[in-house]
Amino acid sequence: MILSPSILSSDFANLARDVKMVESLGCEYLHIDVMDGQFVPNITMGDNVVSALRPVTKMVLDVHLMVVNPERFIDAYANAGADILTVHQESTVHLHGTLQKIKASGMKAGVVINPGTPVSLIEPVLHMVDQVLIMTVNPGFGGQKFLPECLTKVAEVAELREKRNLSFNIEVDGGVDDTTIAECRKAGANVFVAGSYIFNSDNPPERIAKLREGLTVK
Ligand code: DX5
Ligand code: ZN
Repeated sequence: MILSPSILSSDFANLARDVKMVESLGCEYLHIDVMDGQFVPNITMGDNVVSALRPVTKMVLDVHLMVVNPERFIDAYANAGADILTVHQESTVHLHGTLQKIKASGMKAGVVINPGTPVSLIEPVLHMVDQVLIMTVNPGFGGQKFLPECLTKVAEVAELREKRNLSFNIEVDGGVDDTTIAECRKAGANVFVAGSYIFNSDNPPERIAKLREGLTVK
């Protein structure tokens, strides 16, 4: 089970400090939310933040692209040192080609679907990906409420993975806290993004411990 803290809710004026903190607490991935103000109604950060963080941490840089036509930026993220590049099914008419290009660049490839998008739309590319991300909020902002109806899609993807003998990660993103993380794990997820739950707290180490506790719930 892998925790991927989202720096969207971290202290941007002390970004390196916050990143080193979650790394020292044993988090394996670092989730970087890229928004372009088009695909989602918010603008966050770009490949410059990835290249700035690359020398700061050994964590897996797990980049979530919420941009229109993400194929335009593959080289930029590969050069910046991203490890996983995850693109939205809804953001490109060339999903297959985009995933091919990500793999060819040397990064791991991820595909993500919004709450309103069915799993069937990514079925044709499941054999190509290293990670499937099921959004558990509508993308755009941290701190939103978890949408439990997305859990059936986590289970659906886990079943397809088993049936087709594949081995990609199943990641969940949005509204993950010490309670919802248990539901996500039971549905079949193994990578858990959490932003506000970790960083909008006086005691992030305690929050991370609580997330790990949530993962042990039967
Ligand atoms: C939402 C982003 C998330 C966000 C999660 O569009 O993709 O990664 O940071 O934030 P929380 O954990 O606060 O819901
Ligand atoms: Zn995200």
